[in-house]
Amino acid sequence: MTTTMNNTERQSSERTEKLIQEINEWKVKRNAVILAHNYQIPVIQDIADFVGDSLGLSRQAAATKSDVIVFCGVHFMAETAAILCPDKRVLIPDLEAGCSLAASITLEGLLNWKAEHPGAIVVSYVNTTAAIKAESDYCCTSGNALQIVKSIDPDKEILFLPDVFLGSWVKRMTGRENMHIWMGECHVHAAIHPRAIDEKMKQHPEAELLIHPECGCLTPYLDRVARQDKGDQLKVASTEGMIVRACQSPAKQFVVATEEGILHRLKKENPDKEFIPIADEMSCQFMKMITLEKLHAALVNNQFQVTVPEDVAAKARLSIERMVAIG
Ligand code: 13P
Ligand code: SF4
Repeated sequence: MTTTMNNTERQSSERTEKLIQEINEWKVKRNAVILAHNYQIPVIQDIADFVGDSLGLSRQAAATKSDVIVFCGVHFMAETAAILCPDKRVLIPDLEAGCSLAASITLEGLLNWKAEHPGAIVVSYVNTTAAIKAESDYCCTSGNALQIVKSIDPDKEILFLPDVFLGSWVKRMTGRENMHIWMGECHVHAAIHPRAIDEKMKQHPEAELLIHPECGCLTPYLDRVARQDKGDQLKVASTEGMIVRACQSPAKQFVVATEEGILHRLKKENPDKEFIPIADEMSCQFMKMITLEKLHAALVNNQFQVTVPEDVAAKARLSIERMVAIG
């Protein structure tokens, strides 16, 4: 069957091609690198120099030789890059690309919590503002939260923030009793009910189940995950961990419990495998704010720069450097 493009489709495709060409030209002129998170729209992932999870992208930012980093992700990710690379210009194509999880803890909230637990070690998920990171001992991502917590003296109390589901998973997996968890959540991942998993797995009994630790639906499965039975079809992983697992697993079908943007890379790197989203509409509106047009404008106009005051950055850098080094 042959398909032909109508006029509107042809014009849109020509416009996209032109934008892609100009973005690539401007990238060279600016000596810029484009980093994109696994939840970005496909066309952004395809034009990026690196696509990855929070940990991988932080490492890419820290290692880059480019003068400019264009961060196609959400604000805290660009801020982390700005802290790690004070001599680079870090741009985000839309300053409004925030994160509901990062917004679930305030500096005042953290300072009060610390005052209630003097001497406790603060472990912050990377999905936090620079001000929160500056008041933290360690930063972590979903890719290394377990290793970070395991590396801390078992006799020390831990304050883990802000994600309650990630924190509960880390607590269950490490068996650590002296760990307090902030009650924050991501509106996208918290919305998935455990019922959704049962329903999908009934429809696809052979499929492997990949769950992001921010997911609310993980709670009833914590005991099963902690047992880590050999051959269990359920895996908990960061977005990059999901990509690695899908590539290595002998399974041909996967039910995927995280934001839908990851399906693009999963399918691209595993064209012979099938990926089934846990829910039809599991989309982060903040990640989707980054478009090709805004990326183009970012490079042409050298906008929007993300900066962190040096006193805050200096305090936050230590916790972020520990995160980048572990796991
Ligand atoms: P990853 O670090 O696993 O990519 O997760 C980032 C995130 O924002 C998940 O919602
Ligand atoms: Fe934040 Fe959730 Fe979006 Fe990740 S999916 S960036 S945690 S709002």
